[in-house]
Amino acid sequence: MDVDVAPKPAEPLLQLRGISKHFTGVQALDRIDLGVRAGELHVLFGENGAGKSTLINVVSGTFPPDEGSFHFEGEEIRHLTPQRARAIGISPVFQEFSLVPSLTVEENLFLGREITTGGVLRAREMRKRAQALIDELGFDLDPSRRVDDLSRAHQQMAEIAKALLGKVRLLILDEPTASLTERETGRLFELIARLKSRGVGLIYVSHRMREIRTLADRVTVLRDGRHVRTLDAASSTDGELVELMTGRKIDLLYPTITHKPGKVIVDVENLTLADGSVRDVNFYGRAGEITGIAGLVGCGKSELIRAIYGIEPATSGAIRIDGAPYEFPAARRSLKRGIAYFPANRTAEGLALSRPIRENASMTVLDLPAFARFGVLRQAAERAKIGGIMAQLQLRPPNIERAAGALSGGNRQKVMLARALTRELTVFLFDEPSVGIDVGAKLEVYEFMKSLVEAGAAVIVVSSELPEALALSNRLYVMHHGRIVAELTGADRTEQNVLSSFFRDHLTAEVA
Ligand SMILES: Nc1ncnc2c1ncn2[C@@H]1O[C@H](COP(=O)(O)OP(=O)(O)OP(=O)(O)O)[C@@H](O)[C@H]1O
Ligand SMILES: [Mg+2]
Repeated sequence: MDVDVAPKPAEPLLQLRGISKHFTGVQALDRIDLGVRAGELHVLFGENGAGKSTLINVVSGTFPPDEGSFHFEGEEIRHLTPQRARAIGISPVFQEFSLVPSLTVEENLFLGREITTGGVLRAREMRKRAQALIDELGFDLDPSRRVDDLSRAHQQMAEIAKALLGKVRLLILDEPTASLTERETGRLFELIARLKSRGVGLIYVSHRMREIRTLADRVTVLRDGRHVRTLDAASSTDGELVELMTGRKIDLLYPTITHKPGKVIVDVENLTLADGSVRDVNFYGRAGEITGIAGLVGCGKSELIRAIYGIEPATSGAIRIDGAPYEFPAARRSLKRGIAYFPANRTAEGLALSRPIRENASMTVLDLPAFARFGVLRQAAERAKIGGIMAQLQLRPPNIERAAGALSGGNRQKVMLARALTRELTVFLFDEPSVGIDVGAKLEVYEFMKSLVEAGAAVIVVSSELPEALALSNRLYVMHHGRIVAELTGADRTEQNVLSSFFRDHLTAEVA
């Protein structure tokens, strides 16, 4: 990380005026002004589809703006390219990953800026530089590993490391903590503090209020591609930010869910996974009840529900669905058995990006009688049903005929959610249901879960956000290092008890 001397504080590091960007049918950015000072962390806040990622893409030279002016360190910039942006110290970490999966971390870091002498690659030098950078960041990341062998958290760390190699004047982070572990998030925040003290400016996108509170100096609120207001973080409230973002008053509370636990629908006995991420786990989920699984990122809770759905191999143990053994789970059969799964990772698992939203949302239902008659898709029925569901989830822009690939990150996730509402299902597995979606959509998702469970479905929710796990579940399991360390019900479901069950686990581990 080379950081130069800070410019005069009076002069903003980055100054955008009247920036617009149009895509077919959408005005993604409409005359946006944005100023970012040296040493400042500036949060972009807005609903899914408000234009945050598009703005970042303009700042980092990926999309040329249709109009507007762009000044960086006092100089007017025209025809910015990604290469030029990097050269002047604008370093983006995108929401969608940019690493080449078949290359190692260090190969990715130096891609396009290899160190050579007389045309010969200096592998050892590059390895040393990569390792030194990763050490400085304090990340637990092996630079010689191939990217496709890494967990999502480690891929995210590699992305961040890549952005910090070379000169950095403005660091841009688009939802960087969505898949980081608690520990790595802490490391990232320390790094941010160091960068700020050296005069680096930061643009930071997040939907997490707590994070915004911890990090932000100023917040710019965007709505429908327009600049709504820029505020000092210290003198604004959460409610105010959310109201500016949505244009209406929003109750930040969780819905009141009536749980009526019935029979056991999902029953897991002594389950152990091949990669050791889940060890000897016993748990059950009942009809008419939300069962929560809390724990830190990386504790094995996501792997646990992925194994039930059949996308993570188990080595031993048994799964029963509605009383009948479910051997060799596989995604295709899971749907037939009435199990739906919502991944935390909204792009990797399952959207056909070039196809319309409508098709993506109905993909799992084409074999249902309501949609197909004599093999012919009943288009009107499909359109009406998917249209209704997407309206409920507040799709932006509300057009189900657009390609899924043209959607913002959070809106892609809503398409994944819509799939569930279109089928007769009895078990719903949610992995981190609210990561990456805005506050308004979050409430819709909670309402959706409420309606599922009150209609008698068995809902299992995995969440790293403790308040969310506590508020939604009737019974809450706590996982730690691949094992279930507590089951909390009723008044025992408190933040304190969840945290102390981690602590107990540490104590037992030390004694053993
Ligand atoms: N490549 C593209 N082609 C067409 N439309 C696009 C493209 N990228 C973004 N859009 C549209 O531009 C608008 C702004 O999207 P953007 O990705 O900037 O939203 P965002 O604020 O980052 O949302 P999120 O919180 O969901 O990530 C949306 O209406 C989106 O559908
Ligand atoms: Mg985005």
